[in-house]
Amino acid sequence: MSEQLRWGVIGTGAIAAAWVEDMGTTDSGTVVAVGSRKLETAERFADRWGIPNRHASYEELVADAEVDAVYVATPHPLHSPCAQLALRAGKPALVEKPFTVNAAEAEELVALARSEGLFLMEAMWTRWLPHIVEIRRLLAEGALGKLASVTADHGQWFAPDRDFRRFARELHSGALADLGVYPVSFASMVLGTPERIVSLITPAPDGGDEMTSMVFGYTSGAQALLNCSISGKSPTRGAIVGSDARIEIDGDFYRPSSFSLISRDGVETRFEVPHEGWGLRHQADEVARCLHEGLLESPVMPLDESISIMQTMDAVRAQGN
Ligand SMILES: NC(=O)c1ccc[n+]([C@@H]2O[C@H](COP(=O)([O-])OP(=O)(O)OC[C@H]3O[C@@H](n4cnc5c(N)ncnc54)[C@H](OP(=O)(O)O)[C@@H]3O)[C@@H](O)[C@H]2O)c1
Repeated sequence: MSEQLRWGVIGTGAIAAAWVEDMGTTDSGTVVAVGSRKLETAERFADRWGIPNRHASYEELVADAEVDAVYVATPHPLHSPCAQLALRAGKPALVEKPFTVNAAEAEELVALARSEGLFLMEAMWTRWLPHIVEIRRLLAEGALGKLASVTADHGQWFAPDRDFRRFARELHSGALADLGVYPVSFASMVLGTPERIVSLITPAPDGGDEMTSMVFGYTSGAQALLNCSISGKSPTRGAIVGSDARIEIDGDFYRPSSFSLISRDGVETRFEVPHEGWGLRHQADEVARCLHEGLLESPVMPLDESISIMQTMDAVRAQGN
């Protein structure tokens, strides 16, 4: 492998563009190739971002000898097929969230990576944002005492558009998969896998979920209270409450943000965490670091946890009917 990780990106949509832009702010890797379903789209994207290799199919992209690692930025039902293409071509893969459409697919994908002895990671970018790194440090130090609860919400408003993946059932539409995965993953990071799951779903006209509320119970007695929606912009706050103190993340907990640590008697310590760019580069830095150290998965976003998150989301859907 060359010193800088040479990335190939599958897909030329919104997040692919944001990620490529953000890769301009790190020296851990560089984007050398893009694959699209059409050559003209690949060309247009590559011209915009100065990417040398452009491919008219995802198969061609993964076969590019100059590509060390593949970033999968397609709609949800294509995550597993595209990641499998990469792995079967002998390439490690970073796969957009949600990892797959359900737990069965996640298990199959992880089994393939393990049998091929190749690195695989869910692109849950929030985990490597500086404020979350700081929060993980405080949690590891036990700064909050015994953990009692997590609250988080992620609601956005999108103009209804049948052709847009968030409203197209065949592209795994709805709030839970696209937005709910953030609060579910946040609760998983803090409290682990829930023992009990209660959910309430407001269906969308296409059969997906317009809004989903979730209550999780843990063996420790802790609870998580989570919500996601595609019918309006919610505060997108995240909070963790413990016996000694709580953490309140400023709005948009899932993006670069700052937070307060507030003791139970009300003493507030601010953590202002400066940040430039989208924040998408940190997950690519993690892939480069793991590959450099010979790891097959990230300790920050382990594969078994990605499977567990998919199992939780399956249970939320089943429970909410
Ligand atoms: N990390 C984040 O903050 C974040 C934010 C937004 C989205 N995402 C995730 O990133 C993934 C892509 O989301 P996006 O918003 O970038 O979607 P998007 O703008 O619709 O782009 C998806 C890309 O996938 C390719 N594609 C392959 N089959 C397709 C199909 N049947 N219909 C539409 N596109 C198809 C297309 O590229 P070609 O035409 O070039 O093949 C398209 O440009 C999703 O998994 C989403 O959850 C993550």
